[in-house]
Amino acid sequence: MDEAKAPLRIIAHDQFCVEKKSQPCGFVIYGASGDLSHRKLFPALYELFKNSLLPAAFFVIGFARKPWSETEFRQEVAGTLGSSEDEAQKAGEFLERVFYCQGDYDSSEDFGRLAGMLRDLHERFKTRGNMIHYLATPAEVYQMIVAGIGKAGLTPHNTAEGPWSNVIIEKPFGADLVSATALQHAISEHLREEQIYRIDHYMGKETVQNILMFRFTNSIFEPVWNHQHIDHIQITMAETLGVEHRAGYYDCAGALRDMFQNHMFQLMSLVAMEPPQGFDPQLYRDEKVRLARSLRPIPEDRLDEFVVRGQYGPGKVDGIDTAAYRNEAGIRPDSNTETFVAMKLFVDNWRWAGVPFYLRSGKRMARQTTEIAVVFKSIPHSIFPQISANQFSPNVLIFRIQPDEGISLSFEAKHPGPKLCMATLKLEFNYKDIFREEPMEAYERLILDCTQGDQTLFVRQDMIEGTWGFLGKIINRWEAGPGEGLVPYPAGSWGPEASRMLIEKDDRRWIGE
Ligand code: BG6
Repeated sequence: MDEAKAPLRIIAHDQFCVEKKSQPCGFVIYGASGDLSHRKLFPALYELFKNSLLPAAFFVIGFARKPWSETEFRQEVAGTLGSSEDEAQKAGEFLERVFYCQGDYDSSEDFGRLAGMLRDLHERFKTRGNMIHYLATPAEVYQMIVAGIGKAGLTPHNTAEGPWSNVIIEKPFGADLVSATALQHAISEHLREEQIYRIDHYMGKETVQNILMFRFTNSIFEPVWNHQHIDHIQITMAETLGVEHRAGYYDCAGALRDMFQNHMFQLMSLVAMEPPQGFDPQLYRDEKVRLARSLRPIPEDRLDEFVVRGQYGPGKVDGIDTAAYRNEAGIRPDSNTETFVAMKLFVDNWRWAGVPFYLRSGKRMARQTTEIAVVFKSIPHSIFPQISANQFSPNVLIFRIQPDEGISLSFEAKHPGPKLCMATLKLEFNYKDIFREEPMEAYERLILDCTQGDQTLFVRQDMIEGTWGFLGKIINRWEAGPGEGLVPYPAGSWGPEASRMLIEKDDRRWIGE
């Protein structure tokens, strides 16, 4: 598009750029033969390496049970990098820094061997003894791994002089408040909070980070960001995918644990939190926790008024016939696991008094989209006798997290011409059109932050406890009665009818369907 005609132009570039330096370190990836390592971690490390964002001094050890030789492991990793032929040399340089340690998570002997390997590689690559341990295994072995590396002397407490040792822990961090607290208790025998990086990959997404920048670097939005001007807020995370190859995990977790306790509440906290005093890891996370603590508990005896729980049946997604959840490979044929949740929430504080937050997330939905819609109040009075105030469309600010990342703001305007006709228009900002670059992949960003000792985008234990605490009543109720409240929806739809009712009974409707 001709830049002069573009609806939005960059008028000042890079006014303020902060770039921190990564420190030399060795990575150990536990669960190196698993899906996450293959799909996300090795490609992310390679991208960072290729773009010279990793420290010059670094190496990677894959730790897993598979009896691979170093050569076999490097071949495996090579297959995940997606590098083209002209990148062969770069990929080769990366692979020269990749090593393998075969071991069992309950074997102190194997962790002892790992410690020996780390000593040699730190010496060879001049990584000063700094380490990142990435737990990419099933959650059941987290405790065992932390105990194993702790006892092998691989988690020295961080000091200013170094060396340091940080541990990245994938979700799920516990399956409820009790197990999350127990896990924390166990790992804190070996780790201090400043060493624990609980990852939520949504926090690494460019569009998610921008929510905070948008709110707190523009003076025109904050004055209207409250119950006086905002009618309600919607957050939708819809996926067209089903459970894919993760049936074992998903059928035990379900949508509430898989998406709400983490991604959904993280997004909600960014939209609703108070401005932190500074962009400092503790101050920023303090505000998120304060928000989590302000969530109004859902009355247990009126759960159905606030929460909808669905499971997909057969249907068509993108025109293709799709099996019911219970017929997917690896899913129990009588499974009562939910694949969809919608929820109406309130935040009990001055800013959000009386403003409902409608949240929904599901698999096998009509379209893949993650977006946040901030719906402003209708105008208070119509100057036109023919139309009442609430017949004008309210202003809606949308953060499109993915795909088609961007922001839009709708407003009313007069349609040109002799008649008095109103139209609803949109101001649109699309990341790719404007910045013309691909956003950094979430895992790359978060791994980079960990090499820089920056915990800002990682989740603190009190947030984990706040969200599990809030969800406890729902979990208990659902676990008490098999299939409690579970309603079906056709694959390829926007979820069960009850989800539509949840919002329409309040005279509102889901946006974007
Ligand atoms: C993961 C969930 O955390 O996030 C998956 O376990 C889900 O079930 C995924 O599909 C969605 O992430 P993204 O980045 O593809 O939106």
